[in-house]
Amino acid sequence: DASDIEKGTYPHYMLKEIDEQPIVIRKIVKEYSDNQGDLQIDQAIVDAVKAADRLYIVAAGTSYHAGMIGKNFFERLAKIPTEVHVASEFVYNTPLLTKKPLFIFISQSGETADSRAVLVKIKELGYNALTITNVPGSTLSREADHTLLLHAGPEIAVASTKAYTAQVAVLAILAQVVAKGKNIDTKIDLSRELSIVASAMETLCDHREDFEKMAREFLTDARNAFFIGRGLDYAVCLEGALKLKEISYIQAEGFAGGELKHGPIALIEDGTPVFALATQENVNLNIRGNVKEVVSRGANACIISMKGLEMKGDAFVLPEVHPILTPLISVIPLQFISYYAALHRGCDVDKPRNLAKSVTVE
Ligand code: G6P
Repeated sequence: DASDIEKGTYPHYMLKEIDEQPIVIRKIVKEYSDNQGDLQIDQAIVDAVKAADRLYIVAAGTSYHAGMIGKNFFERLAKIPTEVHVASEFVYNTPLLTKKPLFIFISQSGETADSRAVLVKIKELGYNALTITNVPGSTLSREADHTLLLHAGPEIAVASTKAYTAQVAVLAILAQVVAKGKNIDTKIDLSRELSIVASAMETLCDHREDFEKMAREFLTDARNAFFIGRGLDYAVCLEGALKLKEISYIQAEGFAGGELKHGPIALIEDGTPVFALATQENVNLNIRGNVKEVVSRGANACIISMKGLEMKGDAFVLPEVHPILTPLISVIPLQFISYYAALHRGCDVDKPRNLAKSVTVE
């Protein structure tokens, strides 16, 4: 409905869309629940995923980053080997495929030409595809065998925010329902955990002033900025860096904490901003070791940790959510930081230069 895409009192669509994330998560849980309140996905889709010997996730940009999280869900919850591919690479450098692959296209718009080229190719090879998209009736939806909708409402800002978290949530639900279909007990009450996530998102949205201050403190005069993390945090770092470069034009890169010493640490100078995510218990000490390494070379480090894992000097402590769902909340400070950095620098937040919302050419 048309009022859905009004900015209302918001100065930018991006800020409005960041704020909508808790509502979107609740809506997704509702849309994917049956009358008893149990999570549910169309049986034909569950069967298609169960029948696959390997999942091939194909996407571009932010959707690719959601796919990296999705791989974790499918492997950890549903025990299905999963690969994630950048669409434009997959078309020309198709990997060796297994006997019974299922392709999962993740696309906010459902119109990305790079992803469509892969879909056309794998349909020619006779394989099945599931599209996860925000736009019913989009090309990738029509041409795939199955569709799961994101229910995020129209996303207008070029930099994707609520579509990313919606993608992650839908992927979690799909992996959980498939796990159940395979009689795997994930020991996660996902509906409940996602409602905890929605509340945590609200808390974070209420803290936007803290993130504005961080943007001011760390990025006002920055030439570049780095995001470091391990495991799920690494994928979120790639997304945080993409967000920042897209709208503020600050050169931003995400690195796996352990890779710093193999090259990127050479870039650290006095005052280089380094954002570190610490939401994963098994690598908490490792990432903090990486932060020490960059700080001793002059970096200006900003650690965002999760409750229970926090240490003295952390810049912000996220509310606690299930460890596998942290990408849904750790991304929010990074979205806000990017937004405010772009705003402070006078950039056109909703319509960054050289970028299009939906790229329908190869
Ligand atoms: C464009 C947008 C990105 C988006 C990417 C994939 O490059 O600027 O924000 O992540 O396309 O879009 P899709 O609609 O396929 O998710």
